[in-house]
Amino acid sequence: MPKPKVFATRKLPGNVFERLSEYYEVEVWPEYTAPPYEVLIEKAKQSDALITLLTDKIDCNLLESAQPRLRIVSQYAVGYDNIDIECATRLGVYVTNTPGVLTDATADLTWALIMAITRRIVEADKFVRSGEWYRSGTGWHPMMLLGFEITGKTLGIIGMGRIGRAVAQRAKGFRMRIIYYDKYRLPEEMEKELGAEYVDLETLLREADVISIHTPLTPETYHMIGEEQLKKMKKTAYLVNTSRGKVIDTEALVKALKEKWIAGAALDVFEEEPISPDHPLTKLDNVVLTPHIGSATWETRTRMADIVAENLIAFAKGEVPPTLVNKDVLKVRSPGFK
Ligand code: GLV
Ligand code: GLV
Repeated sequence: MPKPKVFATRKLPGNVFERLSEYYEVEVWPEYTAPPYEVLIEKAKQSDALITLLTDKIDCNLLESAQPRLRIVSQYAVGYDNIDIECATRLGVYVTNTPGVLTDATADLTWALIMAITRRIVEADKFVRSGEWYRSGTGWHPMMLLGFEITGKTLGIIGMGRIGRAVAQRAKGFRMRIIYYDKYRLPEEMEKELGAEYVDLETLLREADVISIHTPLTPETYHMIGEEQLKKMKKTAYLVNTSRGKVIDTEALVKALKEKWIAGAALDVFEEEPISPDHPLTKLDNVVLTPHIGSATWETRTRMADIVAENLIAFAKGEVPPTLVNKDVLKVRSPGFK
């Protein structure tokens, strides 16, 4: 039997393709940008497996047209809101993700953003580089670039999964009060260990000095932070988002930032990525913007690639992939290419 074919929509760090070549015929999209949807459909039709990213739209149309050949989609991300999971399950297509290994990197970036926005790091850097500091004629000034001190303040975490909890752990060093809101409450033991107190969303919005979002994107979390929620926040509070752009209603956020309902925002994710340099968010000083780099460390991106390989290799051997997303697919078809 010839080896099954896997198509990867982008190059990945590490030796993932070498590892896979023992089990698969590997084709890798050579461009830095995503394959156009029509190309992806054609590639999917000719593949037994796909390696995909958040930027690849794996909808039901694609999954259906790739039948009967396509059996597994191995997503290089923890989130999978770009994939129609229900449709995949119905068709017997396995979907895997890369959970766990990007938790610390994303929590670290969250803290980098919290510090950057509250201590005005980006503004301060611009102040130095632009020569404004030099021209001001003053070295140290009592009123220069004053920020917000987070030690002892209240951190509100929306979404207390692995990443939310890792953010909470890091807050201990800042002696913060931690409140959280999630659809599911944590076991009491875990709350104690984290020093986190469960509250409803309303209370979190009203009491937190920094709000950080760590939910997946689902129909329930779509635009969960809009005008009404932003108006409940403290005028001195900051909003940080490293989850998914669509959790926040961007138009409402721009309004909130312009009209100073809140003090600022730091965003790693956007409703449309990449956002245009003409986007109103880019014109505001009270925001810090990064290009979806939550998991962007060499260590994490390499480990994510390893998990992609491990899932595909397990599947090729007829085993259940270790980080299978749609477990119900097991009832539809057993793993493997036979
Ligand atoms: C990144 O956003 C991911 O879901 O892995
Ligand atoms: C992702 O790893 C999460 O569960 O927060």
